[in-house]
Amino acid sequence: MTDQILVLPGDGIGPEIVAQAVSILECVSQQMQLGLEMNTALIGGAAIDSTGVPLPNDTLAQAKTADAILLGAVGGPKWDNLEMARRPEQGLLGLRSNLGLFGNLRPAILYPQLAAASSLKSEVVAGLNILIVRELTGGIYFGQPRGIRTLDNGERQGYNTYIYSEAEIRRIARVAFEAAQRRGGQLCSVDKANVLEVTVLWREVIQSMAADYPEVELSHMYVDNAAMQLIRAPKQFDVIVTGNMFGDILSDAAAMLTGSIGMLPSASLNEHGQGMYEPCHGSAPDIAGQDLANPLATILSVAMLLRYSLGHVGAADAIEHAVNTVLDQDFRTADILSDGTIQVGTKAMGYAVLEALRQR
Ligand code: IPM
Ligand code: MG
Repeated sequence: MTDQILVLPGDGIGPEIVAQAVSILECVSQQMQLGLEMNTALIGGAAIDSTGVPLPNDTLAQAKTADAILLGAVGGPKWDNLEMARRPEQGLLGLRSNLGLFGNLRPAILYPQLAAASSLKSEVVAGLNILIVRELTGGIYFGQPRGIRTLDNGERQGYNTYIYSEAEIRRIARVAFEAAQRRGGQLCSVDKANVLEVTVLWREVIQSMAADYPEVELSHMYVDNAAMQLIRAPKQFDVIVTGNMFGDILSDAAAMLTGSIGMLPSASLNEHGQGMYEPCHGSAPDIAGQDLANPLATILSVAMLLRYSLGHVGAADAIEHAVNTVLDQDFRTADILSDGTIQVGTKAMGYAVLEALRQR
């Protein structure tokens, strides 16, 4: 049976970086006879422009039956003034919640070739390899009630609800404990249990599961301290597990430790192992259409897709190896440029990875 991959380029730099990642997928599919089939659909602002909604029914239907989804990015200033429910971001959030993609894996790995591109001293980040496990379909992003209401005195008040059930905490914790088992055996759960009851429960539930994973060393950290420790001594972390909003924030910080958010892939998985794969960075409207964006996060997302959803480990390894090769060859997009390296654009970077793949 052939694997169906739904490709959702989206907005901003999305189409450019996804085009490069799709060429890579086509190349490995052919080289290794994987017989992958790809379909493209609309999401985000691009979907709003042509259908009026950020997540068209047709896109959602295709997403539900696909074996895996590759997404570029959504959003941009053009749609920033729309009401919340009609904004491009709702396309992405709608996919996450409709498909139950609760487990978000965001690895932050420093490629030794990029140590000089990090804003931290290279000895602080050399060898960095962190996995952030972010809960993706709950917490304050989805909690009800939410909205902006007008009080009796005429003043408006905005409100959201930060909410997690035990079952939601347990299933994301399981993903994180298992990841820690496969990796360095350390799990740090990040919360704000000194202030927020929802995270008191979070801490309690995760603590109660520790006995099932005796080989994993569990620790807990408040989110403000975690932000500081990520910048101060990031190598103390192996796996971090946290809720939706803290994970959003900490994963951007962790990304920057590696030199550029342009290098970081991500996987969002549901209980059936179906997944959506996307770069951690956004749509970067300021550089869209200029052949400046770094396609490597999306190309590495394709490697994760092959590894986690389709079980093509050899193909995933080959892509990761090819990315390593182009970094060894000193090719750099603007975001990871440093002295003595060669600046290339989005297309040339994609082409360099293709060449590295072909020469294996
Ligand atoms: C991310 C992004 C999204 C999020 C936005 C685009 C809705 O920042 O994937 O980290 O907040 O989850
Ligand atoms: Mg984010």
